[in-house]
Amino acid sequence: MKVKTLVLSLIAVALILAGCQKTPAPTMQSVVNAKGYREASLIGMKLQWKFDGQDLEIVLTAPTTGWVAIGFDPSTMMKDANFILAYVKDGQVSAIDQYGSQLTNHSPDTTLGGTDDVTAVSGSDDGNTTEVTLRIPANSGDKYDHALAPGEEHTVLLAYGPKDDFETQHTARGKLKLIL
Ligand code: HEM
Repeated sequence: MKVKTLVLSLIAVALILAGCQKTPAPTMQSVVNAKGYREASLIGMKLQWKFDGQDLEIVLTAPTTGWVAIGFDPSTMMKDANFILAYVKDGQVSAIDQYGSQLTNHSPDTTLGGTDDVTAVSGSDDGNTTEVTLRIPANSGDKYDHALAPGEEHTVLLAYGPKDDFETQHTARGKLKLIL
């Protein structure tokens, strides 16, 4: 009887531990679209990207009038990710290069002693959808960025928020693995 109880207890503990395992990020197969960008979608947000010379060009489209963002290669949650956030206000695109300084927080690379490595190419906000085109160096050399290359698998975070700022928490966020 005691052995049966012990076995049942061990099975219960194993099931609880299995339930605590984090679901791994799905690996998404990207397709090349008519504009020559690779494309993937998550949380209602569209990511398009292409390598161009030394740069990676990124187009982010999300159902928001606030900020849109991408993050690369966190260690845990948001920590250690290279974040690029942008919003469009009065027709002007503002973009910033940040780093996951904590599990659920990030800081501008420049306040950490790094460099701001993002160029806003264009953007629009039609009152429902925000779309921005951004360029980042594929390998900036800044320790608060991660080197990226075509054909490599990277963990990618996508998120969008409700306001034109770089502070307000996301309306939606997600994680996936992509072959760039
Ligand atoms: C703008 C300010 C931001 C704030 C205040 C913020 C705050 C938080 C907080 C409190 C959590 C934990 C609660 C939760 O799971 O929702 C979280 C999780 C998360 N955030 Fe953010 N966040 C911000 C920006 C971003 C950005 C720019 C991205 C990606 C581009 C992002 C991606 C994520 C992801 C993927 C998680 C879940 C991590 C996991 O459970 O593994 N966040 N964030």
